[in-house]
Amino acid sequence: MEVKQSNMPTEDSMAKQEDARAGVAVDAQLAKNIMSRHFQPSLIGHETWEGYIFSDLEIRIKESTDVYGAVLWPSAMVLCHFLETNQDKYNLADKNVIELGAGTGLVTIVSSLLGGKVTSTDLPDVLGNLCYNVMRNIKGRSKYIPLVTELTWGQDLDQRFPRTTHHFDYILAADVVYAHPYLEELMDTFDYLCQENTQILWAMRFRLDPENSFVERFQQRFHMEELYDLPTLSIKLYKAWRKDQKTKDHREAAV
Ligand SMILES: C[S@@+](CC[C@H](N)C(=O)[O-])C[C@H]1O[C@@H](n2cnc3c(N)ncnc32)[C@H](O)[C@@H]1O
Repeated sequence: MEVKQSNMPTEDSMAKQEDARAGVAVDAQLAKNIMSRHFQPSLIGHETWEGYIFSDLEIRIKESTDVYGAVLWPSAMVLCHFLETNQDKYNLADKNVIELGAGTGLVTIVSSLLGGKVTSTDLPDVLGNLCYNVMRNIKGRSKYIPLVTELTWGQDLDQRFPRTTHHFDYILAADVVYAHPYLEELMDTFDYLCQENTQILWAMRFRLDPENSFVERFQQRFHMEELYDLPTLSIKLYKAWRKDQKTKDHREAAV
């Protein structure tokens, strides 16, 4: 006699479904907490800005619509939230930090408020607004004034950031991987700047295939650990470090 397979859920599969539902609920709550840091000014003044709360401080970001880096992307908020709430493990105080593709500057500002010595970089066209946002928000609040400077991915790295004088403890990046023609140059920039004991903290919004294939190629050079997975925002946050160094040394240095 043929025995029909039962479709009844087992205890094990029900427990897994329950765990998955709990995981989704945790992610959704975390995403909600992160997005709640954004507010809009209650009064319309002569200048438009977007407001954010980090480090118990109000941060005002001026956006502009003419260039790509002039709008703030949610990945930046995800990275800032992580940095603020994980200072015990990822302490930026007095550390050398570089941000790639800083855009409107939120990550640079928050890293600076958390005590980092920050080098904030982007394309030349973006630097004016970036500098304006950084200065208006850190004045009198930060121990170190960030250096806002050009870094076009893959260009003149050894002249502008010689390894003999530049060592970064952290490389920060939010939403720098999307369908643009400079993904190889971006990879080379991570590779050049990431020295032994440098940690990369990189928030990434997944949109299409280029993001996935970049991650695959990135993994050939770097170890990666997922710190956040936020499906509601389509954003993941990764920590990465060089493959060609002893993992044990890295872990010890990170403590
Ligand atoms: C999607 S925006 C993200 C901005 C900011 N990190 C955020 O999350 O709000 C991408 C950033 O990468 C910068 N960018 C794009 N191509 C670049 C290149 N070839 N070299 C350096 N920066 C670049 C853009 O100017 C822009 O600021």
